[in-house]
Amino acid sequence: MIRQRLLAGPDLSRGPEGLAWHVQRLGPPPVIGPALIDVVESSGLTGRGGAAFPVGTKWRSIARRHAGQPVVVVNGAEGEPQSLKDRVLMTARPHLVLDGALLAARALRASRIAVVIGESHRDALASMSAALAERPEPELRQARIVIAPPRYVAGESSATVRLVGSGIARPTTRPPSMHEAGVDGRPTLVQNVESLAHVALIARFGAGWFGAGTVLITVVGAASAPGVLEVEPGTSVREVFAAAGGGSRATRAILLGGYFGAWVGAGKAWDLPIDPVALRDRGLTLGCGVVGFLHDAGCGVCETARIMRYLASESSAQCGPCFFGLRALADATARIGERGSNPEDLARLHRWSQEVAGRGACRHPDGAVIFLRSALAVFAEEFANHPPHWRAESSQPRRIA
Ligand SMILES: Cc1cc2nc3c(=O)[nH]c(=O)nc-3n(C[C@H](O)[C@H](O)[C@H](O)COP(=O)(O)O)c2cc1C
Ligand code: SF4
Repeated sequence: MIRQRLLAGPDLSRGPEGLAWHVQRLGPPPVIGPALIDVVESSGLTGRGGAAFPVGTKWRSIARRHAGQPVVVVNGAEGEPQSLKDRVLMTARPHLVLDGALLAARALRASRIAVVIGESHRDALASMSAALAERPEPELRQARIVIAPPRYVAGESSATVRLVGSGIARPTTRPPSMHEAGVDGRPTLVQNVESLAHVALIARFGAGWFGAGTVLITVVGAASAPGVLEVEPGTSVREVFAAAGGGSRATRAILLGGYFGAWVGAGKAWDLPIDPVALRDRGLTLGCGVVGFLHDAGCGVCETARIMRYLASESSAQCGPCFFGLRALADATARIGERGSNPEDLARLHRWSQEVAGRGACRHPDGAVIFLRSALAVFAEEFANHPPHWRAESSQPRRIA
């Protein structure tokens, strides 16, 4: 259930936790170098930016490279419109994130830290800038904050590397990987802010203490008290809904993992565990931690059409299948929503979503079609019999209701 580790400490309404309070509560970050890689590896911590990749494995792979001193990129871009958890963490507990970045830099013997923060996350930007100015460690005194444009793909790892190196927040379309040659051709670690905050606690209290850890999630949609929660892995979707105040209407579907996640019918979703690894084993994802509730009057086709339109508009337009394919898929979904079901568009959605998958330089099209295909399965009846009522009011993303 609810368990506060990252968000433990002063009430969030009191604003950022300053350095003095942070150190009084947790002590200073321990001085550990490469030995921390073993600790992080044995903790089993997985990344919280979307892919749930084991953090220790990534560190070890970078530590093996010999192409210059590594760079650490702290990923606080949080481009997913529904997600709030990274900006809440950066705003309230900036020193936990900075401790994690410092510990990662020392473990990898990195010479540079860059903190990427989304342009629209103003409170997070102010809090992280003030926190950096308080830090005495040379690695953090030299760290730089880099502002990411408010685009979905700006937080993709190679886009953050490009942004830090050359100011262009678009994914790289060609090898080598950033582990080999990232910022300025140096091995580069890109790590989500929540992942790094967990590292700050693991380094203090050990891998055994970490246990299964905790997960930050953002509850959106038809819950009475949506917002950011910190929960134990294994907490069920039903418990999350209750912790977010429940809802006055019946829930018909849940969007697990945000825009790169999947719709799950409510009947199947209630008992699912909020656990990145357990969900991955079931063919699902917790993605960036968004859990969205769609109530019984919500239209699955219309919500899917809005999200597809947004994802299509966020392609960085460097790969044909992503740029043209997502646009075609978004248009076909919108046609069903606006003009009503037709078998041609439905067949196109099924066929094209197969053809687009795996054909971009980054995972943007893959995430979009996983989401779309889940909609085609969960709202199959609605896609087949949708009346011509939906009007595209805006291309802006909207929170599901
Ligand atoms: C289109 C796209 C957008 C992404 N946006 C973000 C983001 O805003 N923040 C983030 O931490 N990871 C984002 N990711 C995931 C990153 O590529 C990367 O996997 C992550 O930052 C690594 O950190 P982690 O291992 O701690 O999760 C995105 C991935 C894709 C494909
Ligand atoms: S797959 Fe899409 S978002 Fe990714 S690099 Fe290619 S065009 Fe850009």
